[in-house]
Amino acid sequence: MWRVDCHPLGAGDTVISVDEVNRQAQQIAERGPTKTEIAGLAGDRPYVVIDGLRAGYGKMEILHDFNLQVGRQQSLCLIGPNGAGKSTVLHSIFGFTNIFSGSIVVGESDARRDVTKLTSSQKLREAGIAYILQDKSIFPGMTVEEKILDKYPRLAERRKHRAGVLSGGERRLLEISRALVMEPDVLLVDEPSIGLEPRFIEMVFEILDDLQNTEGKTIIMVEQNAKKGLEFADIGYVLVTGEIAIAGTGNELLNNPEVGKLFLGG
Ligand SMILES: Nc1ncnc2c1ncn2[C@@H]1O[C@H](COP(=O)(O)OP(=O)(O)O)[C@@H](O)[C@H]1O
Ligand SMILES: [Mg+2]
Repeated sequence: MWRVDCHPLGAGDTVISVDEVNRQAQQIAERGPTKTEIAGLAGDRPYVVIDGLRAGYGKMEILHDFNLQVGRQQSLCLIGPNGAGKSTVLHSIFGFTNIFSGSIVVGESDARRDVTKLTSSQKLREAGIAYILQDKSIFPGMTVEEKILDKYPRLAERRKHRAGVLSGGERRLLEISRALVMEPDVLLVDEPSIGLEPRFIEMVFEILDDLQNTEGKTIIMVEQNAKKGLEFADIGYVLVTGEIAIAGTGNELLNNPEVGKLFLGG
């Protein structure tokens, strides 16, 4: 159940079931954004372009005619109900899904590269794309690498410890650090705040902010904490059953009454 205490239309105390959220989101999805609107959000200088993507697992199609555009050094956040296909978008960019049609292209106009059919290893090594796992991805017993810790003192303090004794928040920071070893241009980040204490959530978002704004990385993220994600990101998409229901700037989505009612209420 989603508790909505005071949404922007002032309906007061209401409780909306997950089914009702999905039903209402589905209705919104029927009038989704045009490709022109999607291109406009990326400032018409896109760095990652997904065009007409149909992708899924096995023979099952999860994403239907999905489009995405994000500029260099921009951030884009996907929100939406559980099972909408948000992680599947990141999986598709990183080569973890079956792609039935459509394309994924990375790079600026003079150096575009079609990465649709690359393996994950090629994406990481050749195309500058890194993926930060939703689930804990540290092998217990692994020694924390010194090289990547210079930048993040909290981890450096613990460098003699094994990864297994790091807190959830420290592990998340380490996962991010590991993803940076290959010096990627594009970071795919799945639910960076999940399961973390507030102070670590702040820290993770500060690091992502630094990666985007100081290091010039392009960030595509999924965030269940819609408010946090939309406050962070330049661009927000609401994904519903494999299609974009609403697209806008992060601020536009934060101020959109429908988004407020369905995804920011809790
Ligand atoms: N590895 C997989 N194999 C088969 N189906 C999957 C797999 N991962 C996700 N799915 C299915 O794809 C759909 C979208 O899932 P997902 O992208 O994880 O949603 P979200 O991240 O929005 O919660 C769901 O119906 C889910 O059950
Ligand atoms: Mg997911």
